[in-house]
Amino acid sequence: MRYEIKQTLFSSSIYLPTMMLIVRTRNITALEKLFTIELPPGFALNHKPGQFVEVSLLGIGEAPISISSSPSRSNGSFEICVRKVGRLTKVIHTLNPGDTVGIRGPFGRGFPVEHFRGKDLLFAPGGLGLAPLRSLIYQVLDQRAMFGRVLILYGAKHPSELLFKDELDKWMEREDVELHLTVDRADENWTGNVGVITTLFPQIQVHARNTIAITCGPPVMYRFVLMELQSLGIPEGNIWLSLERRMKCGVGQCGHCQMNHIYTCLEGPVFSFSEIKHLEEAL
Ligand SMILES: Cc1cc2nc3c(=O)[nH]c(=O)nc-3n(C[C@H](O)[C@H](O)[C@H](O)COP(=O)(O)OP(=O)(O)OC[C@H]3O[C@@H](n4cnc5c(N)ncnc54)[C@H](O)[C@@H]3O)c2cc1C
Ligand code: FES
Repeated sequence: MRYEIKQTLFSSSIYLPTMMLIVRTRNITALEKLFTIELPPGFALNHKPGQFVEVSLLGIGEAPISISSSPSRSNGSFEICVRKVGRLTKVIHTLNPGDTVGIRGPFGRGFPVEHFRGKDLLFAPGGLGLAPLRSLIYQVLDQRAMFGRVLILYGAKHPSELLFKDELDKWMEREDVELHLTVDRADENWTGNVGVITTLFPQIQVHARNTIAITCGPPVMYRFVLMELQSLGIPEGNIWLSLERRMKCGVGQCGHCQMNHIYTCLEGPVFSFSEIKHLEEAL
């Protein structure tokens, strides 16, 4: 695994945020909001899907947030999808186009997309886990001919909590994407599958050895999804997941994100299952 402190793209110090302009906001659900952030002129984020940025507001705090837009659609800006959970994220939700935020990064290890070429891809995001995987999904869709099947199994607690519904509708219409949705609890308009994400697995068949599985979601989901992926016969080295840990610095200096001997902010948040399965604190 790599073990290096990364220099932020925009500043001479790894701790110094660059102030960037919010150019667009979109309410995604009652709790999640999408922010489009403009890069300073002449700069590219050059991120990999799965990487995160540290987002800060002066006098309030800083938090790691995954980059939700694809590198293939950069166009001088990037997107983050923020769930309102606490002190910082509540204030971020009050921001509007024209406001600025501090950004450090991109940090962490993203998905090794180059190793996914020619393979079938099985995405299994749960809830907010679609936000980071959306970055990878769009990169794959923008280079569609380089990959085999694209299957997406996406679950949320309730229909009102499904992220990016308009985009899900578009993926549903595509013949080269197999999208299966589920919710834990239906409402009166829901006609799809009801049950946790693992109830979708019996509906699919995969060519296990040629399949890369990519999952991201709440910690409680991983154990069950991993069991399903293994029972499909997908090799451990072909299973990729993004782990969330409490992070502060994002650059391997503070130890907040340590999991056994590993700094998640540097060596993750993306890992293959074979890399972490022996780590007691991982799952
Ligand atoms: C690599 C990485 C990527 C992330 N990507 C996203 C993203 O794309 N969108 C997004 O909305 N959030 C993301 N998060 C989580 C986000 O960083 C936290 O929700 C945020 O730090 C909360 O800050 P706050 O000040 O609003 O909440 P606080 O006031 O600090 O806490 C409010 C509540 O949230 C809980 N909480 C705080 N931090 C975390 C955390 N890291 N994980 C789980 N629960 C937490 C606390 O226990 C508390 O119950 C990511 C975290 C990591 C480590
Ligand atoms: S967040 Fe500081 S070491 Fe990882």
